[in-house]
Amino acid sequence: ISILEAVSYWTRKFEAAGVPEPGASAEYITGHVLRFKSFSLISPLAQNLTAEERTKVWKLCEKRMNRMPIQYILGEWDFRDLNLVMRPPVFIPRPETEELVEHLWLYLQEDLSREEEELGILEVGCGSGAISLSLLHEFPQAHCTAVDVTKEAVELTQHNAERLGLCDRLNIIKFIVLSLNDIVFPADFETKFDVIVSNPPYIWTQDMGTLEQEIVGYENHCALHGGTDGMGLIRDIIHTGHKLLKPGGSIWLEVDPRHPDMIQTYLNNHLQYQLHLAGVYQDFNER
Ligand SMILES: C[S@@+](CC[C@H](N)C(=O)[O-])C[C@H]1O[C@@H](n2cnc3c(N)ncnc32)[C@H](O)[C@@H]1O
Repeated sequence: ISILEAVSYWTRKFEAAGVPEPGASAEYITGHVLRFKSFSLISPLAQNLTAEERTKVWKLCEKRMNRMPIQYILGEWDFRDLNLVMRPPVFIPRPETEELVEHLWLYLQEDLSREEEELGILEVGCGSGAISLSLLHEFPQAHCTAVDVTKEAVELTQHNAERLGLCDRLNIIKFIVLSLNDIVFPADFETKFDVIVSNPPYIWTQDMGTLEQEIVGYENHCALHGGTDGMGLIRDIIHTGHKLLKPGGSIWLEVDPRHPDMIQTYLNNHLQYQLHLAGVYQDFNER
C-alpha cells in the first residue's frame, strides 16, 4: 500500500467513525512513522510503506479510532520554539497558551532593564512544563519555580526540562495551591517573584459535559475542572499570590471569557490584596 493510499484509507475510516480532523490525523501519524516533521515534506507519496511502517501506522491509527489525542499518539508536540514530550494524562498545551506566553514575553521584553536583572517566575500548574520552559528558553536571566498537584505533571516537566537542558534554572515542586495552605510552603520554595503565571483549570462544572471525547477520556480532570464557576484555583492563586509578588510584580492568567469581570469583582471585594486588573486580552478565537 502506498503512503497516499494509507492516508486516504485512514481518513475515510476516521470520517466514518466521526473522529475529528480525520485527514490531519492520518497525515500526522503517517508523517510521524516515516520520521518527517511535516507530512507536506514527504515525497513521493506514491511510494509504498514497508511492512514495518504499515504495522506502525495501523497501530497508531487504531489509537486515534479510540479517540486518543494526536499529541499523545505522537508522544510529542511543539509549543512555541520547543518540542515537548507529551504523555497522558498530563494536559496537552493549547495554542491559546502560546498566546498567553507571547503577551507575557512582550511585556517582559519592553522592560529592558530586565536584561541585567534576575527574573523570578512562579508557574502554578505546570503540566508538561510548556509555559515555564518557554520562558526559561527565551529569558536567560529567568529562574522558574513550577508547581503542580500531580506526580505525572511534575515528572513530565522534569523530563522535558532535562531534554531541553533547562534544569539548572528550574525548581519543580509537587505542591497543591490552596487558600488554606498558603502559609506552609516547602523548604526549597523561593518566596518572592516578579511574575506569577498560570493556565489554571478554569472550566465551569456546568460546561464539563460539553468537552470532547479526546479531552474527557485522556486528560487529567484536575487540569480542567475549575469548580462551579471555574474560579476555584484562580481565587486561590490571587489569594496566595499577592503575598508572593515583589513590588511591581504581576499575575498572568489564562481564563474563561466570563472570568475577567468576576476577577474584577473579587479584587474589589479584597482591596487588602492591593492588586488591580491591569489588562485583558482576547485570544485568536475571540475568547
Ligand atoms: C490547564 S493545565 C495547564 C498545564 C500547563 N501549564 C499548560 O498550559 O499546558 C492545569 C494544571 O494545573 C494543575 N493543578 C490543578 N489544580 C492545582 C492546584 N490546586 N495546585 C497546583 N496545581 C494544580 C493540574 O494538575 C494541571 O497540570
